[in-house]
Amino acid sequence: MTDGKATNIVWHPGRVTRAKRERLSGHRGFTIWFTGLSASGKSTLAVAMEEALYEHSCHAYILDGDNIRHGLNNNLGFSPEDRTENIRRIAEVAKLFRDAGVISLTAFISPYRSVRVSARKLAEAEHDAFIEVFVDCPVGVCEKRDPKGMYQKARAGIIKDFTGISAPYEPPENPEIHLRTDQLTVRECTQAIMGYLIEGNYIPCSPNSMQTSFCAGLSSTE
Ligand SMILES: Nc1ncnc2c1ncn2[C@@H]1O[C@H](COP(=O)(O)OP(=O)(O)O)[C@@H](O)[C@H]1O
Ligand SMILES: [Mg+2]
Repeated sequence: MTDGKATNIVWHPGRVTRAKRERLSGHRGFTIWFTGLSASGKSTLAVAMEEALYEHSCHAYILDGDNIRHGLNNNLGFSPEDRTENIRRIAEVAKLFRDAGVISLTAFISPYRSVRVSARKLAEAEHDAFIEVFVDCPVGVCEKRDPKGMYQKARAGIIKDFTGISAPYEPPENPEIHLRTDQLTVRECTQAIMGYLIEGNYIPCSPNSMQTSFCAGLSSTE
């Protein structure tokens, strides 16, 4: 599924540029890619960040593993091939969101380093538009949290190929942000990410400064 089968296709360009769309949004299009074990806190942080960004007048949207598997990826399971295809599609969707000038918050275990590297590669021509957040929590703590009862099912052998129990998780080597969710509160994690975004000029310091600082910088890139 990953090798392109379509032939005789030619890109049809539009007239509204990404820079114009980003000016409309008031911020860059970029991806915050949460990765970590089940119950490490990816969805919780994606939800908290979506809210924080909304309050900051930023257009953000969550692509959550479980939710996407209800629709776009409902024909995929949890074999290594299907996990790879799951992430490949999400990486492509995240790329479309960036081009649309929207922030996407992806919350997938995304256990394979090579697949995350491929997702990042899709953004390599876009200056720092891919922010990997390692949602780090020891498997013992995740298992105690077990908000969806998944670890219990995995231990009982009801769920096969469960990351951290019966399938591997390869931690990121150089994530942009590394959060220990067993040591920090959700609020502290959210503040750390918001601080990174403001310092890196991904979003304006305050919602009110959008038109001045951010948009001024854009005019030269069009
Ligand atoms: N700092 C933290 N960040 C994220 N979640 C946390 C944190 N501290 C405790 N939690 C709790 O851990 C659980 C994480 O569950 P969830 O977000 O569904 O995980 P995932 O999406 O990674 O499978 C939630 O019950 C959440 O309240
Ligand atoms: Mg989740």
